[in-house]
Amino acid sequence: MKYTAIDNNLYVNNRANFVKHLKSNSVAVFNSNDIMPTNADGTMPFRQNNDLLYLSGVDQEESILVIAPNASNPAHREILFVKETSELIAIWEGEKLDKVGATKQSGIQTVYWLSQFDSIFHGLVTEAEHIYLNQNEHLRAIVTVETRDDRFRKECKAKYPDHEYERLAPIMRKLRPIKSQLEIDVMQQACNITEKGFRRLLDFVKPGVMEYEIEAELMHEFLINRSRGFAYEPIIASGFNACVLHYVENNKECRAGDVILLDVGAEYANYASDMTRCIPVSGKFTQRQKDVYNAVLRVMKGATAMLNPGTLHNEYHEEVGKMMESELIGLGLLDKHDVTKQDSNNPLYKKYFMHGTSHHIGLDVHDVEERNRPFEEGMVLTVEPGLYIREESLGIRLENDVLITKDGQHDLMANIPLEADEIEDLMNS
Ligand code: GLY
Ligand code: MN
Ligand code: MN
Repeated sequence: MKYTAIDNNLYVNNRANFVKHLKSNSVAVFNSNDIMPTNADGTMPFRQNNDLLYLSGVDQEESILVIAPNASNPAHREILFVKETSELIAIWEGEKLDKVGATKQSGIQTVYWLSQFDSIFHGLVTEAEHIYLNQNEHLRAIVTVETRDDRFRKECKAKYPDHEYERLAPIMRKLRPIKSQLEIDVMQQACNITEKGFRRLLDFVKPGVMEYEIEAELMHEFLINRSRGFAYEPIIASGFNACVLHYVENNKECRAGDVILLDVGAEYANYASDMTRCIPVSGKFTQRQKDVYNAVLRVMKGATAMLNPGTLHNEYHEEVGKMMESELIGLGLLDKHDVTKQDSNNPLYKKYFMHGTSHHIGLDVHDVEERNRPFEEGMVLTVEPGLYIREESLGIRLENDVLITKDGQHDLMANIPLEADEIEDLMNS
């Protein structure tokens, strides 16, 4: 791991909140993610399961967290199983968690080697009535491989068919959207690294630069700041490419007169940041580009001001749609009379603004959430309105990550240049 150690109170507190949601006489099991293969003996970089991470901080493969608040043996109420390390493993793979290290990272006092799991778990199961198991239930998840949690679910149900089985996912999507101060601090670090990357670009971008050269500059800045890299596949889309919402080829030349849409965010300690900025290749927006930019910026500011405790996501998105509608009329892209006659189920603004305005962000870029839950203090959401005008080869999206507070908002990206004039000034200084 490149990041510096995280205060383990984060995980101690998360577990204390978590156990409140369990039925009595329960045992809950969280498995780490697998190391995914590529080809031959190749592997993808390891990415930990976010629920396991949230409750333990353990960022290592082949780890299991077991929580059994009513276990008769107090030492077994929280157990971490990690793979046994040895001098041989240390020679080939470097340092792995030993028992002391695992306790330090997680705050969990009882750590066993993975080989002891079956017998210890059997003891806990015989005492328990409910077994809580985990599954990725994200609304848009497309999972065609079997995860360790999936395999464990099958094995466990086959071995202990007469227990009551419960789902962990509804608990995790209740807990994870509310960020603690320790989490907010880590997310702020991710945003600060993104800021450094963006500022570096303002000096670097010139006509003729390739989109992938911009990607390389960002990656360099992220890595030297202890980030593993991008929190998601970066979109570096010049000119018309910005109208392709999921453009990730990043292989075109940036030409004078074009605007580049940069949807790029650093991760830090597995927490995501998610930023979008649009900058003129030649350092100066045309009047039309600036008009569209400022229209999106006004919507962004209007939307941000609506992120208040109590607001419902769907109502919020509808209001933002109305703001965008009036901007589109102002830009001459929609006709006022057509708008009055539009089908309210399919409003005309969707031709130019076809995606959502906000999503939760945290350990996942599109973090787990309860869709119908009103906004609350401690939630962090993106605000990312955009306009994509294919006939003008112009796409503008602006995106910040915003914390909802008791009486308003705290923008975690408030220091990242956003005003069109400021961006022009920085590009030309
Ligand atoms: N970068 C992904 C998103 O904006 O949702
Ligand atoms: Mn986003
Ligand atoms: Mn984004």
